[in-house]
Amino acid sequence: MATVEWTGSAVRLIDQTKLPDEESYVSCGTSAMVAKAIRNMVVRGAPAIGAAAAYGAVLALGEPDPEAGLAALRGSRPTARDLFWAVDRVTSAADPLEEANAIARESVDACRRIGRLGAALLKKRPRIITICNTGALATVDYGTALGVVRAAQEQGLEPSVLVLETRPRAQGARLTTWELAKLGIPFRLLADGAAGRAFQQGLVDVAIAGADRIAANGDTANKVGTYPLALLAREHGVPFYVAAPVSTVDLETPDGSAIVIEERPAAEVTTFAPAGTPAWNPAFDVTPARLIASIITELGVLQPSNLSALRPAVTR
Ligand code: MRU
Repeated sequence: MATVEWTGSAVRLIDQTKLPDEESYVSCGTSAMVAKAIRNMVVRGAPAIGAAAAYGAVLALGEPDPEAGLAALRGSRPTARDLFWAVDRVTSAADPLEEANAIARESVDACRRIGRLGAALLKKRPRIITICNTGALATVDYGTALGVVRAAQEQGLEPSVLVLETRPRAQGARLTTWELAKLGIPFRLLADGAAGRAFQQGLVDVAIAGADRIAANGDTANKVGTYPLALLAREHGVPFYVAAPVSTVDLETPDGSAIVIEERPAAEVTTFAPAGTPAWNPAFDVTPARLIASIITELGVLQPSNLSALRPAVTR
């Protein structure tokens, strides 16, 4: 299974709106098609969005109106920092396709390193709670927070996972369960509101989440529901880790209040509600840095207050 793949003239994406019922692929041969696939969450998860947008930018640069294509890509989802980072990298490169390939390649390497560094923080048989999907589907391969789980499994630590359902798009229920089953890692699915009960029952050793954008002070935007998860972890004395590549760290954004939080259609929330029910659907929330034990990046496990250590790597 390849989440994002360049086929020579198009970007091939596994259609995440159809999983787990159907394993099908969408081929995007124009930048507008890529932008639409990102907006509609055919591809989702910050690093996967970044890689798709990188190839989308390659397509845009070969189109009659490159600026319109690039603007559509940049406007597709506002919170994922990797999207903007990838488009900027490709558009300023001498060889855009080679740059997009490098972004995809480096992403896999970064995830494997994040996995290794994160697994080193875990004890034997860790019971891990996580939210959304941060696995191979959310990246080019391997995953970030789920990459840590995967590395733990590979190292014989015998992890088990409590998977939060992740309303309203059910990335946990649909995608994380699908990936963990394939990997043979034990898990149980929980309604989002059951997280508190899980902590009270002593079922959680560690909480690990991904990130869509990490501000310079360590405040972290991730799937809505991450902030309450971090609060629960703090209340119960459980470490809360963020696992993300350096491409998700945005040193130009001083703190969480400056992160643009995407608001998605109300219809995603009103599935079970009477017709016409008014709804509000923020796709992300911001976890304050003080609730985060460490941020696991491919360049090391960092204190949220110490992200400026990444500046040389980020401005390279
Ligand atoms: O709306 P989504 O499914 O794109 O949200 C994804 C997340 O919130 C992930 O935790 C984040 O992008 C990191 S993915 C490795």
